Amino acid sequence: MDTAAQRDGWLAAIAAAADAAALTAVEARLFGPKGEVVELVRSVTSLPKEQRPAFGKAANLLKQEVEQALAQKRETFAQQAMQQELAAGGFDPTETGARPKRGVLHPITVVQNELVDLFTSLGFRWEDGPEVESEYFNFDALNIPGDHPARESQDTFWLTDKNLLRTHTSPVQVRTLQRAVKQGFQPPLKVIVPGRVFRSETVDKTHEHTFYQMEGLVVDRAHGEHGISVANLIHTMKTCLRVILERDVQVRLRPGFFPFVEPGFELDVNCPFCSGKGCSVCKQSGWIEILPCGMVHPNVLQKGGLDPEEYTGFAFGMGLQRVVMLRYGIDDIRQFTGGDLRFLQQFPEVSR
Ligand code: PHE
Repeated sequence: MDTAAQRDGWLAAIAAAADAAALTAVEARLFGPKGEVVELVRSVTSLPKEQRPAFGKAANLLKQEVEQALAQKRETFAQQAMQQELAAGGFDPTETGARPKRGVLHPITVVQNELVDLFTSLGFRWEDGPEVESEYFNFDALNIPGDHPARESQDTFWLTDKNLLRTHTSPVQVRTLQRAVKQGFQPPLKVIVPGRVFRSETVDKTHEHTFYQMEGLVVDRAHGEHGISVANLIHTMKTCLRVILERDVQVRLRPGFFPFVEPGFELDVNCPFCSGKGCSVCKQSGWIEILPCGMVHPNVLQKGGLDPEEYTGFAFGMGLQRVVMLRYGIDDIRQFTGGDLRFLQQFPEVSR
């Protein structure tokens, strides 16, 4: 058997193929059932044992060479076909390709961005504070001394050296006041503090151990035309809820107890799901509790370095998950950090 002659014949046949169809025919002849190359490789079994290794090796190399020649020729035809299509104007360079997968903003980020936009347009400034907070700023400075029952209601993750994971964004109130006083206090002071807070809660549909709040604080002179009152608080909250819930809202105040505000309120909004008629979301009451708030307690102003005779203010603490849940009718708070993309990808239209 003259393999050299066979090889030349095969390579010549491949080179001679005039188009893709002809090449396919050559391929069938060489590599199909009973194909010539296949048969050559298989013929190793009919040889005496001692000749087999050398022949087998040579036959395999030859097979690879022929396969390569085939692949090259096929590529040449593919290139030619593309050139022809281009020349014939069949290729449209303006056509959009496959859409790449894009991420979306988390719904909490979206709502936070909207709130920050809104409040900065009203003259508020963004303040940050540490997530690892001291007992002093998280509790004592907010009029919650060591034996105060209010500490019980904020199940705290304690760290070492009287540090803790902040249970709310309110500690930034006193931090901000102290800094502002140090820099020579210039009323009015208007800040928002979006941030992550932590509580040692058992997680269920409505409770998370890690969640997001946005604190607001406004302080101005107590007397004269600038005096800050509950009316300013209500107006600001109504504006905020109208923008964020995208509709006109009615609000009502109930007394709420937080040691760092006096008076303190729970602000309710008329239920967006039933327009106040009563449904399962609002437990037939027509109202949904959404915003704890109040007038800044004199002790807090004092801790911040201000004279409560001279200054007054209001503060609020919004739970961002709660707002997002209300806006989109989400009934399980665990969805937010569950990492399920099917949940998150439902919000692309609200991303900016
Ligand atoms: N910090 C309070 C909480 O998380 C909420 C709050 C803020 C209440 C500001 C009144 C004023 O429970």
